[in-house]
Amino acid sequence: MAKKENKLSTESYKGVRDFYPKDLYIQNYITGIMAQTAERFGYSEYSASILEPSELYEAKTGDEIVREQTYTFKDRGGRRVTLRPEITPSVARMVAAKKRELNFPLRWYSIPNLFRYERPQKGRLREHFQLNVDIFGVGGIEADVEIIQMTYQIMKNFGAIDTQFKIFVSSRKLINRIYTFYGLRDEEQKALSKLIDKRNKITPEAFRGELDNILSQKEGLSDIFFELTDTSDLNKLPDKLRDSKERKELDELLARLNKLGIDNIVVDTSIMRGLDYYTGIVFEVYDTGPENKRSLLGGGRYDELLEIFDVEGVPAVGFGMGDVVMRNFLETYNLLPTYNSVVDLYICTLSKEAIPLALDLSKALRSKAINVAIDYTGKKVGDQLKWADKESIPFAVCVGDDEIKSRLFAVKNMQTGKV
Ligand code: HAM
Repeated sequence: MAKKENKLSTESYKGVRDFYPKDLYIQNYITGIMAQTAERFGYSEYSASILEPSELYEAKTGDEIVREQTYTFKDRGGRRVTLRPEITPSVARMVAAKKRELNFPLRWYSIPNLFRYERPQKGRLREHFQLNVDIFGVGGIEADVEIIQMTYQIMKNFGAIDTQFKIFVSSRKLINRIYTFYGLRDEEQKALSKLIDKRNKITPEAFRGELDNILSQKEGLSDIFFELTDTSDLNKLPDKLRDSKERKELDELLARLNKLGIDNIVVDTSIMRGLDYYTGIVFEVYDTGPENKRSLLGGGRYDELLEIFDVEGVPAVGFGMGDVVMRNFLETYNLLPTYNSVVDLYICTLSKEAIPLALDLSKALRSKAINVAIDYTGKKVGDQLKWADKESIPFAVCVGDDEIKSRLFAVKNMQTGKV
């Protein structure tokens, strides 16, 4: 007998996904609602490879993801390749590569699996699927409005009500304007953005401490940024910032979304987004309850990303919505569908002799687009029906001597038990 230690473990690699059929059913439901909503807004599906040259992410994806979270290795030819941690750089590459041929504006979506080397925990895995919706070629606020409207609509299509989730919006442009207004140097801006990005993950005291550190040379600034990121009250900004076009753009965005019936949306200046390429409006959606602390989705405008490919003048805005947090959200609010088998009708066979007839019957039904499976186990009919019931198959037919003689079949409704 082989020794136990020679046997392989059945565990998957940590943090990646196996989907058994009943799980995949839920997964397909989630991605189905995502795709359906994106298409309802006129977005077409695209796809890309899971492998990219590592440089693609080093340009603008952001330090934390690139240095700590990517799966990067050398291929057999010595080239550095990375398993995509996000798809935005890939889609930007695809658009840049065919800028001349493509018919702008582009409304595109995809639901890729992405890989990030994170500590697996609630809402975070090493492999996740992420709906990406992006519009290329529209510089005006209409595109930001459409994209945020779609995030709202997806939540509604999942059955969520307004009080269960909230949209938080900020503006990189406004934040940059505030930084320059207060004369912050590049390193100070970077450090501050990083700190603000983690504001909700640390205590107010720790936040204050780090803020004091970064802004130690500038009197009073620490108070200003503490209050600004705490209350997001833009009216407290100095006149020049309060009345700036960047601030007005944020107000305009909210007003337009309110007009579309979206009221669970607020400005939150602590929304930074960890990725380096955003240039304008940024936003995230959160569960309002305490159970799912991580963002359901996040995105924003990134008008300059294609410049890394030496392509100018392609404004873009979009978002990414992960399946893991979304599934947790749907579980929390009891919004997941019950499982339905792909099998419409199960044929129980009372004897070996009944099998040819069961095959004939199944052939006829399949030609009418009915999904049929046959039981060949030879078990008692009660056990065959029990199996069908466990699989949530809605209908069953039993085939035995009577049916062989009469060629008449009684269809049993598995839910009511009626024939
Ligand atoms: P992101 O904020 O890194 O954005 O990810 C978007 C969403 O993906 C998150 O809100 C979260 O739901 C989910 N997510 C991210 N990492 C994980 C993980 N390790 N496990 C489970 N879920 C995760 C982006 O990736 C941008 N590229 C989105 C974008 C598209 N911006 C413009 N267009």
